[in-house]
Amino acid sequence: VRALLVVAPGNPTGAFLRREEHARLAALCARRQIALIVDEVFADYAWSPSPGRLATAAIESPALTFTLSGLSKVCALPQLKLGWCAITGPAPLVREASSRLELIADAYLSLGTPVQLALPELLETRHSIQRQIRERCARNRAALLALRPAGAAWDLLASEGGWSAILRVPDAPGEEALALLLLARGVLVQPGYFYDFARGSYLVVSLLPGEETFLRAARLLADVLSANDLH
Ligand SMILES: Cc1ncc(COP(=O)(O)O)c(C=O)c1O
Repeated sequence: VRALLVVAPGNPTGAFLRREEHARLAALCARRQIALIVDEVFADYAWSPSPGRLATAAIESPALTFTLSGLSKVCALPQLKLGWCAITGPAPLVREASSRLELIADAYLSLGTPVQLALPELLETRHSIQRQIRERCARNRAALLALRPAGAAWDLLASEGGWSAILRVPDAPGEEALALLLLARGVLVQPGYFYDFARGSYLVVSLLPGEETFLRAARLLADVLSANDLH
């Protein structure tokens, strides 16, 4: 094992790392002399603040840590292809990793000049777009939850943020069959197995569509799941 990779918050789970969880992971990595890689691309998209939550893994740490983010989620601009990596941890390890990464970045992953020059202004726009995305995702999530009849066989998993909702669905007829039924009605969802859930059946739904479109799709989704309840 060379590294431990954590997606924090998880996509699509929206589960953030707690400070004590991060401390334990960093201690484990330091003890095993492996790197900790933390993908924080969704870190700005929490529904609400939480005191014990780790704000970023780019902090002092006993483990060599690579903390990743980028414009695709920070500014909702995936097409601009600009990401970054903060390296923290014991100084000699950071120095060595930085010089190796610099070579890789220069030789294989060079960054476009236009996007570099535009970066300060692009970053300025993040507050407004992030607020709009957070508000839209929260409204869409609430709308989906409101469509769940009492006692339904499906439910939404708890989440602290992100751009997706996870529905726990009955094991029959199965994730794929439900996703295909929905696709036939024009609603695109991902079956849970795309994300390797250890057990249970799930559908993953994007919370990003405009509210009218989302509500139309959510109604069809609730219909299909209710019809499925009857069988
Ligand atoms: C958790 C996570 N990390 C990284 C990425 C990719 O980001 P980028 O567009 O900067 O390659 C994604 C894209 O959806 C993601 O979900």
